[in-house]
Amino acid sequence: MTEWTPRSWRAFPARQQPEWPDEGALETALKLLSELPPLVFAGEARALTSQMARVADGEAFLLQAGDCAESFDGFSANSIRDKLQVMLQMAVVLTYSTGVPTVKVGRIAGQFAKPRSSPTENVGGLELPSFRGHMVNDPGFSAEARAADPNRLVSAYHQSAATLNLLRAFTKGGFADLNRVHQWNMDFIATSTEGKRYELLAGEIDRALRFMRACGLDTETEPQLHEVDFFTSHEALILGYEEALTREDSLTGDWYDCSAHMLWMGERTRQSDGAHLEFLRGVRNPLGCKLGPSATADEAVEICELLNPDRLPGRLTLISRMGADGVEELLRPLIRAVRDAGHRVAWACDPMHGNTFTSESGLKTRHFDAIMQELAGYFAAHRAEGTWPGGVHVELTGEDVTECLGGAEEILDDHLDHRYETACDPRLNGRQSLDLAYRIAELLRG
Ligand code: PEP
Ligand code: CO
Repeated sequence: MTEWTPRSWRAFPARQQPEWPDEGALETALKLLSELPPLVFAGEARALTSQMARVADGEAFLLQAGDCAESFDGFSANSIRDKLQVMLQMAVVLTYSTGVPTVKVGRIAGQFAKPRSSPTENVGGLELPSFRGHMVNDPGFSAEARAADPNRLVSAYHQSAATLNLLRAFTKGGFADLNRVHQWNMDFIATSTEGKRYELLAGEIDRALRFMRACGLDTETEPQLHEVDFFTSHEALILGYEEALTREDSLTGDWYDCSAHMLWMGERTRQSDGAHLEFLRGVRNPLGCKLGPSATADEAVEICELLNPDRLPGRLTLISRMGADGVEELLRPLIRAVRDAGHRVAWACDPMHGNTFTSESGLKTRHFDAIMQELAGYFAAHRAEGTWPGGVHVELTGEDVTECLGGAEEILDDHLDHRYETACDPRLNGRQSLDLAYRIAELLRG
């Protein structure tokens, strides 16, 4: 292997990169980014690696969740709070019902770039570049909106900084206090079956805390009860942006991509001779790699060897997204090959991206039942192989949107356009997310 530097990826084929019309403007934006402060610190990324090592060892469960694509529109404190709130609820359900700690990682504070199946989109004979996420261009269908604009890279950085700032305040400043479990149940969720079930669970947590106090334990001084660790992640897609935020850690001399705690490689950019792998192999953050139905056992092992040659547990999470049909048959050979090659990876299931289709109303959607079916197959595959079904990777929002079909309070095709707001793929709403957490807890309890 050749020597790694933050820019060594430039000698490799880089898929899914925008065509920037103005190279000079791109250089200016990247130089500015390279001089701005890091968004996360190396020590935090190392803390996540340690937590992910527990996932790899079967002692913790990963909940990685958030938007398909964050948006520059409608950016608000409330939407960040709602997303965090629903993830905290899901984590409480998972931890309380299984006794296994939940590692919380958002698809947030940097998830602004999307790989696309086609570089262009044709509407009524007009061919324009595809929308690639707010970090690159605008979804509006005009030549101006779709032109890749490097100033957006800088805007994405600033929105990520503001988002992280609020997340840090929420998670360390009292909002995530276990004494407030009831307050995370938003109105539209609280009235649902899952919401009521959650209320009961929150009541049990209250009683447990009172019991601990009655026994003389000082619950006030236990930081674990008042704060949570919450980490950020996104797909490392636009490599110029990731390079510009890559910094050398002054303590260890190692390189970290300080745009997020965890970065992942998408299904479309995971080639072993590609630029994305070249970039990610050199940064010490915990990494993810998506594996779709075409992934072979040899490819999975090769990815482990290239991204984690030192075999550090917690360094690498393999995120399968096989689709509901055939997940067991597709996944088991990969699990076996990775295990038999002696790699201690964490596994996670993305039950979203293999189950997307266009509904009769013409909107991109997913059915809750297919999501559950893929999860059930994923758990069955791990049970059969004797490996730990480490976690889930889902697209959700805390809000009351209508983007995915089904769920306990069933969303039908006719309902989809009531509140269809996603900037890219359909997300589970708050109720569906909580429902999902209960069902995952059941699968985990086996
Ligand atoms: C995603 O996670 O948003 C995504 C595009 O996934 P995949 O690379 O698995 O298609
Ligand atoms: Co998506």
